[in-house]
Amino acid sequence: MGIYENHILPHVINLCCGLKPIRRQRQKLVPEASGRILEVGMGTGLNMPYYDPDRVEVIYGLEPNERSCEMAAGPIGDSGLKVDMIGLDGQEIPLENNSVDTVVLTYTLCTIPDAHKAMTEMRRVLRPGGRLLFSEHGKAPDAAVRKWQDRLNPMWKVIGGGCNLNRDIPDLIKSGGFKIEALDEMYLPGPKFAAYTYWGSAG
Ligand SMILES: C[S@@+](CC[C@H](N)C(=O)[O-])C[C@H]1O[C@@H](n2cnc3c(N)ncnc32)[C@H](O)[C@@H]1O
Repeated sequence: MGIYENHILPHVINLCCGLKPIRRQRQKLVPEASGRILEVGMGTGLNMPYYDPDRVEVIYGLEPNERSCEMAAGPIGDSGLKVDMIGLDGQEIPLENNSVDTVVLTYTLCTIPDAHKAMTEMRRVLRPGGRLLFSEHGKAPDAAVRKWQDRLNPMWKVIGGGCNLNRDIPDLIKSGGFKIEALDEMYLPGPKFAAYTYWGSAG
């Protein structure tokens, strides 16, 4: 990984993903996670303060960026929760079939290169009756905004460490074998091309 990806980008992501509208999204979802939890793309640990300690048995963390892992160590330590960093890549999850109760996926599906494969892996490790909790930005419903998402995407991907603006989040989740149980969507405050957000749960 280059200087930009490993030293600058984690700080940029930490700043952008720590903004108030995104913190509110975390507050809606993360406290619902329970039991053995897999967080895919843990980043700098911004979800850690939102887990409910009474519901968490263990959190398995996946994060390929070394600097982000170092930055996550602070919030992980502060949380007092049991966290095992088990591997790097959401496309090949080093866990047994049906071994977790909750998968937490926040602002990560935009960036995973093979998002379909990652969703298939998440479905494989989630036990029957378990829940995927997600909040992800993606493809906007308005044609004019979508046009800008498609135009900006190649440049955005370079500066955003592989982040895509225009992924169809519900379709990708379903493509992994999930059934969506609850879905909300709207533009969060911010530039429309990056602000259309889908959140909810799937099983
Ligand atoms: C925009 S950040 C979001 C971080 C975190 N989920 C949050 O809510 O703040 C996207 C994260 O996805 C991670 N990522 C990229 N490719 C990945 C992969 N193949 N598997 C797991 N995580 C990945 C990046 O390293 C980055 O930390």
